Amino acid sequence: MSERFARYYDNLMRPLEKRAFQEIRKQLVKSAVGDVVEIGSGSGANFPFYTNVNKVTALEPNSIMREKARTKLQHASVPVELIDGHAEYLPFPDDTFDSAVSTLVFCTIADPAQAINELRRVCKNGAPILFFEHVRIDGFKGRVQDILTPLWKRLCDGCCLNRETLSLIECTGMEMRHVTKYYHDIFIKVDSVNRK
Ligand SMILES: C[S@@+](CC[C@H](N)C(=O)[O-])C[C@H]1O[C@@H](n2cnc3c(N)ncnc32)[C@H](O)[C@@H]1O
Repeated sequence: MSERFARYYDNLMRPLEKRAFQEIRKQLVKSAVGDVVEIGSGSGANFPFYTNVNKVTALEPNSIMREKARTKLQHASVPVELIDGHAEYLPFPDDTFDSAVSTLVFCTIADPAQAINELRRVCKNGAPILFFEHVRIDGFKGRVQDILTPLWKRLCDGCCLNRETLSLIECTGMEMRHVTKYYHDIFIKVDSVNRK
């Protein structure tokens, strides 16, 4: 993520966060348990919502985002360890975590298939893997997303409007507990369970 985009990201997102996303985040992370890995944790928007977990290990490759996230650590009611790292190469042994969280990250990750394999590898069998992402919609609106994506990617620092993240998750063979769609199906909240 570029320095400029990282600096303005929270201000750009504030209206949506207040109107809807904060509540969605709260509902999503409620299902996290034990030791949690969060990928692409950004400025730490989820940190205040973790409650009944032991610890969150949050990976974020952008140093400005990590700097912003450090200020949110004081609002977290659980221990959060913030580290530099990419979701495609998680620096942990197999079966380390009891849960995983990804919010608004799969749109930007360079290799989403590798990232999901890594999440499954570092999580134990039966671990909840929780997503809140925006995705490509079916039909005409999806084709509009395809057309807009090259420009959007440039404006929003690599974010792709047309990632098929729900299909990617479904193809892994994980158990899908709940899928909730928002804003004309552009956003999805997925509560899935790792099955090895
Ligand atoms: C749109 S922001 C979302 C931040 C946060 N998860 C949230 O919900 O507000 C996307 C984040 O993904 C991070 N990111 C980009 N590529 C990544 C990768 N390969 N692995 C992990 N994080 C990545 C970016 O640095 C950025 O902080």
